[in-house]
Amino acid sequence: MMKIAVLPGDGIGPEIVAQAAKVLEALRGDGLKIEMEYAHIGGAGYDAAQDPLPEATLKLAQASDAVLLGAVGGYQYDTLPRPMRPEQGLLRIRKGLGLFANLRPALVYPELVNASSLKPELVSGLDIMILRELTGDIYFGQPRGIRELPNGERQGFDTMHYSESEVRRVAHVGFGIAMKRNKKMCSVDKANVLDTSMFWREIVTEVAKEYPAVELSHMYVDNAAMQLVRAPKQFDVILTGNIFGDILSDEASMLTGSIGMLPSASLDADNKGLYEPCHGSAPDIAGKDIANPLATILSVAMMMRYTFAREDIAQRIEGAVRKVLQQGLRTGDIYESGMQKIGTAAMGDAVVAAL
Ligand code: IPM
Ligand code: MG
Repeated sequence: MMKIAVLPGDGIGPEIVAQAAKVLEALRGDGLKIEMEYAHIGGAGYDAAQDPLPEATLKLAQASDAVLLGAVGGYQYDTLPRPMRPEQGLLRIRKGLGLFANLRPALVYPELVNASSLKPELVSGLDIMILRELTGDIYFGQPRGIRELPNGERQGFDTMHYSESEVRRVAHVGFGIAMKRNKKMCSVDKANVLDTSMFWREIVTEVAKEYPAVELSHMYVDNAAMQLVRAPKQFDVILTGNIFGDILSDEASMLTGSIGMLPSASLDADNKGLYEPCHGSAPDIAGKDIANPLATILSVAMMMRYTFAREDIAQRIEGAVRKVLQQGLRTGDIYESGMQKIGTAAMGDAVVAAL
């Protein structure tokens, strides 16, 4: 039995998750044992239980094998005190489930090569895996806050740190992924300035000794940001910390044409995982049936691959998405002239038909 917690969240979340649920239901129709249970997160959690991560949601997620999440956030929650903000629900569920390894692939589909903001020759055939550490770094470091200095001036502050075990475990995941790909890993840091990064680099270099087949390189994050738009195909696996990974993965998503195409997986040490599109809740287009559900559907493919070890089903879903693109069907974000523009629900139906 595959026990999946489904957390649609806010904005376009419910619409895109509904399409991914159609895919899961189609697979169930084919005999796969799938159980789905829904719960609130983000603004929806706040509306339902005055908490962006209601107790019942965390319990359900903990009792499930995998979590499918839409997106969180909305204008109406922007003025809430920080602990009540939708984003806190996301950060807390990642931390609460120990999901330290965040896989964000940036893959350019041949059908969408013209949708990229870069020249086709720079991105055609691009296949990068960004591995972002997800439960440490300046995102979670204490102390943090706003304090008053002795001279009476106020100061905002956060703390960046990484413990050895945190770096080690994510580095092992990174080398494991690299072993299954082109055996190249680039660790991205800011070791020329930050002590945390110097330490990160030392530990990654040590772990690398256990993976002599993988070619390890190091790059400063500012240079990496530039190289990603200059010559992105030089990368295979990028391993980096939480905040650098947040920024670089958004940048990398644009290489592929649309952030609406990018899935992600966040895994714990036992491959239990939370699967969500890389994009946000896009409140400006919510409820209009125009959002691209493919990133969420592709997140289900990652779920089959990483949590349930069903590479066959993962490829079947990915194949269905490819087929739909080959048929010329496009949501607005990836539309180009000559193609057929369709809505969110129609795209979900098309993928199910192609399955
Ligand atoms: C992401 C998002 C989140 C993050 C926000 C919504 C907290 O940007 O998943 O990349 O920064 O991790
Ligand atoms: Mg982000």
